[in-house]
Amino acid sequence: MAAMTVTRDLTSLRASRAAMRGRVALVPTMGALHAGHIALVAAARAVADRVVASIFVNPLQFNAASDLARYPRTEEADLAMLAAAGCDLAWVPAPEAMYAPDRATAVTVGGPAERFEGAARPGHFGGVATVCTKLFLQARADVAVFGEKDWQQLQVIRRVVRDLDIPIAILPVPTVREDDGLALSSRNRFLMAAERTTAPLLAREGFATASAIAAGADATAVLGAAMARLAQAGFGVEYLALVAAETMQPLDRATEPARLVAAARLGSVRLLDNWLVA
Ligand code: PAF
Repeated sequence: MAAMTVTRDLTSLRASRAAMRGRVALVPTMGALHAGHIALVAAARAVADRVVASIFVNPLQFNAASDLARYPRTEEADLAMLAAAGCDLAWVPAPEAMYAPDRATAVTVGGPAERFEGAARPGHFGGVATVCTKLFLQARADVAVFGEKDWQQLQVIRRVVRDLDIPIAILPVPTVREDDGLALSSRNRFLMAAERTTAPLLAREGFATASAIAAGADATAVLGAAMARLAQAGFGVEYLALVAAETMQPLDRATEPARLVAAARLGSVRLLDNWLVA
């Protein structure tokens, strides 16, 4: 296996990209990599001849400066993990290489971006859409790989690509979980020991509620009961909702492809998760 190249400026990224033959896959990340990201690289390798992974903590998608400042940065370990996973090229731009100080262009998204995370974190999906559009144009990949863990983000990216006619396929990859069900996230490392013990309850309630709704239970009743149990266990539940899988519109019952989506705080950590309703 050839050694992984690390590029930090757009000129060398473009030169490396131009030298690549065959199908190219992009794995966008913000670093702090874990097994979930490595599953994205593996999926990328399965569909492409060359894999480019980006590591960029995108300031545009953070609402609070404190959240941006505390976002884990583990570049050396990240690069070692990407190389071991068979990534060909790591694109690691500095913020000033990504955003000109006088930049005047951004991508805004409505539709699937409006509710849930879009409402909780104003501007977040605009920041995600802007950086992903730039990454797609920079890497000129044939396919980009995203985790289903951030279900709403996945729907937003699909809509951006469709609406802007960006010639890239979006490949979703199922959420990777700990043995106890907790969805992997770079932010899990901030859970205190007692919170880490409680955290898997979110996934347990999510899976059980999704199956109950799929089996015909009254969605309002089972969602209400699950939220009450989570609150009792110490979660600050922001939402646990049944939505249309693609549009993110709230549903009363699963009359079309549906997803259960959740955000809940545990201590200082905001956990996001989602489950197929089928
Ligand atoms: O999911 C993430 O890590 C980020 O939102 C992404 C897609 C890399 C854009 O910054």
